[in-house]
Amino acid sequence: MNNTRGRFFALEGIDGSGKSTQLKLLAQRLEQAGRPCLTTCEPTHRPMGALLRQILTRQVRCDSRVVAPLFVADRLDHLLNEENGLCKAVEDGLTVLTDRYYFSSYAYQSVDLPLEWVIEANRPCAELLRPNATIFIDVEPELALERIAQNREGTELFETMERLTRTREQYFRAFEAQKDVERVIVLPGNQSVDAIAQAIWEQVEQFF
Ligand code: ADP
Ligand code: TYD
Repeated sequence: MNNTRGRFFALEGIDGSGKSTQLKLLAQRLEQAGRPCLTTCEPTHRPMGALLRQILTRQVRCDSRVVAPLFVADRLDHLLNEENGLCKAVEDGLTVLTDRYYFSSYAYQSVDLPLEWVIEANRPCAELLRPNATIFIDVEPELALERIAQNREGTELFETMERLTRTREQYFRAFEAQKDVERVIVLPGNQSVDAIAQAIWEQVEQFF
């Protein structure tokens, strides 16, 4: 593996699975090991991400056939924007960690749209930057919703039992559909924060 180029890892899971908790811990550990990181998330904090957040909080209503391409546009901007685009960051040697990437679209948008369509729509992103690995933190929807309820007042568009159950199933369908081209690591998310962090670290350190 080329050692000057950075690495790129995507954390995935249903809402409340513990992605953002683990992203922070992984970044700390990488920094301690002398590997500078860029941590980021999707939807982004740029204009297209802001529009997506309005849709997720039901301020703006939009058909699923419109939402899916908006996630693709936000993702392409995440990769290519001149300010802090991920393609350049990886080229510059940073380790980039993102809370969600195209497997989120494969799983969430394919509840309403054909999975193949969503994968095809995201092809430009996969061609620009494929993760060294996608780390999926697997939790039962019951546990995820319990955690969300404890920590937030309102729930977002996709945060219902039925929806998260179907989304989790779609994640596994997408992993199967992409098994020849993507490296996906599935880890159980019903353990302590520290145990999950250790399991993630053991996987990630193999990529350096
Ligand atoms: P996500 O980013 O996947 O939505 P978060 O990291 O925000 O998930 O975690 C959701 C909630 O669950 C937070 O309040 C967090 O403190 C808590 N949490 C995260 N990981 C664990 C864990 N392993 N065990 C118990 N609670 C957790
Ligand atoms: P996020 O803010 O990461 O929520 P959480 O921290 O609770 O996991 O993501 C917002 C929502 O956007 C989440 O319900 C998943 C959804 N989403 C998609 O439907 N498609 C996508 O491509 C992405 C990136 C997110």
